[in-house]
Amino acid sequence: MRAQKLPRTVLLTGANGGIGSAIARQLAERGDRLLLQGRDADRLEQLRLSLPNPDRHRVLVADLLDSAGRQRLLQWCGEEERLDVLVNNAGVSRFALLGDMGDEELLRVLHTNLLVPMALARDLLPLLQRSAMPAVINIGSAFGHIGHPGFTAYGASKAGLFGFTEALRRECADSGVRVHYLAPRAVDTELNTPAVRALNRALRNKSDSPASVAQRCVELLGERVGQRRFIGWPERLFIKVNALFPRVVDSALSKKMPVIRRYARQPEPTGDAL
Ligand SMILES: NC(=O)c1ccc[n+]([C@@H]2O[C@H](COP(=O)([O-])OP(=O)(O)OC[C@H]3O[C@@H](n4cnc5c(N)ncnc54)[C@H](OP(=O)(O)O)[C@@H]3O)[C@@H](O)[C@H]2O)c1
Repeated sequence: MRAQKLPRTVLLTGANGGIGSAIARQLAERGDRLLLQGRDADRLEQLRLSLPNPDRHRVLVADLLDSAGRQRLLQWCGEEERLDVLVNNAGVSRFALLGDMGDEELLRVLHTNLLVPMALARDLLPLLQRSAMPAVINIGSAFGHIGHPGFTAYGASKAGLFGFTEALRRECADSGVRVHYLAPRAVDTELNTPAVRALNRALRNKSDSPASVAQRCVELLGERVGQRRFIGWPERLFIKVNALFPRVVDSALSKKMPVIRRYARQPEPTGDAL
């Protein structure tokens, strides 16, 4: 059973990113109206102008780690006649061994990937509940279900996001708000540094295009009840094996530690693309 009513008004965070811009394009092509959040006003405006019906969409420039920025975003959303969908897509990653990460990095990853989506969902639920077809979709990661060496903070943030999504889906079950979780495996975007790409090649990890992830996101938004979806084979199998027989995965990944350690220790520039 699918909810097909269009157009919807959709708040999309991280709209300038690889997956975000692909989601923006596919939703705009289907006729949705987009509120595009990002930090770089020029790039956001270019994205808006490149979409079908650019005049219908709106850009919202805000840093989500900044509480004043988040307040502005909420105020802009409040000016809308309606809000139907929140896509919590903005995120950061950090590929490093735990001992090589300082408090600031741990906080930045957990704040961006977990606390911001929680706070946005909390603050926007009253507005979403006025919609006839409200939905929240949180973009997680396969690493939220398979603890992967070198991604302790990132994996923790996405595991937390999964737990949050599941609890919120149940909390909202009688309110009509559909709460979805979409967990991609590796995706070809700037989130992954050269070291991560090299690691993926060395470990023969497959990766997907942003467009294919966006398509799964669009499909999920058509579902009538909150769902969780994991992208990729054999990752979906690994997730099941990890849940039932974690020692098997412990052993497989511990054998890869020398390779993971080598790439995690490669010097690379710091920044949000980490
Ligand atoms: N790429 C992968 O391999 C992969 C795999 C699984 C899951 N994911 C998830 O998919 C989502 C999108 O990632 P992506 O691959 O598209 O990465 P990306 O290209 O680096 O895009 C990430 C977006 O998040 C935004 N962002 C980061 N920190 C922000 C902040 N403090 N305030 C506002 N916006 C912020 C960035 O904004 P700016 O444009 O302003 O920098 C950027 O647009 C993330 O949640 C990520 O964890 C990615």
